[in-house]
Amino acid sequence: MPPLSDPLPISADSVPPGPPTHEATLLRRIEELGDWFHNLDLHGVPTAPHHFLGDFPNIKWKHISEGIPEDLTGATVLDIGCNAGFYSLQMKQRGAEYVLGVDVDDRYLSQARFAAETLDLEIDFQKRSVYDVDQISGQFDYVLFMGLFYHLRYPLFALDKIIKKVGKRLVFQTMIRGSQEVSLWDEDYPFWNNEVFSDPNFPAMYFIEQSYSNDPTNWWIPNRGAVESTLRSSGLEILQHPESETWICAPCNVTRDGRYILDMELDGTL
Ligand SMILES: C[S@@+](CC[C@H](N)C(=O)[O-])C[C@H]1O[C@@H](n2cnc3c(N)ncnc32)[C@H](O)[C@@H]1O
Repeated sequence: MPPLSDPLPISADSVPPGPPTHEATLLRRIEELGDWFHNLDLHGVPTAPHHFLGDFPNIKWKHISEGIPEDLTGATVLDIGCNAGFYSLQMKQRGAEYVLGVDVDDRYLSQARFAAETLDLEIDFQKRSVYDVDQISGQFDYVLFMGLFYHLRYPLFALDKIIKKVGKRLVFQTMIRGSQEVSLWDEDYPFWNNEVFSDPNFPAMYFIEQSYSNDPTNWWIPNRGAVESTLRSSGLEILQHPESETWICAPCNVTRDGRYILDMELDGTL
């Protein structure tokens, strides 16, 4: 027997079962998991307290959450580009039956799995690209496509794939730049009309050849007109615009003669 003043030897048996809740353990694990983009509250311990956007994405969620039912019992959710799982966790906490979060980044997926385990929430996190979501079977009541559109070289290719997965609602968020105003446009313009393209409200996407905000994965940044016209053009009806960068939509005209826009475009029949 060791003398009473000696610390007790640590063995696997002395680690309490279940998810970690002790502050020091949490802090150590949070740090081990690298830099966090999502500031999650893990039993009072923040994961990214010094985020350059403030308490992110809580600052967004406080507006967006009002557009989503508080009780999601029985709902299914697909969170694309889930990062550390902030939105997946919120949807699960509202009672969603099944939440699938997908991302291509192993570090973020590890953070998301750790957060869900710590909060004792059952969420499926899978490594999968946005360009592969049409390989997932079935549809989801809620599809979240947030903070990813402008990171893609092929944004409409992704959006038109995502449409196939939307059962009830798409929650779409993107960085926007340029005009935040929308105007009504004619159905058609003559070939010689150039002026319309000088109107700052005309739908436009800014292409970033080098880098924006020190991030070379920012490729196409739309103005508000481009977001709304793109969503409509992909067959969605815009139901709500809860904050400047977020739109909540429902599928409306996603197929033509029973075929999705993506499939028609790919085989040249659109
Ligand atoms: C700016 S973060 C947005 C995170 C979260 N959706 C949000 O709104 O806070 C972009 C996320 O998309 C992920 N991502 C980047 N390219 C992707 C791709 N091709 N497929 C799926 N996720 C991707 C990144 O790893 C990152 O977690």
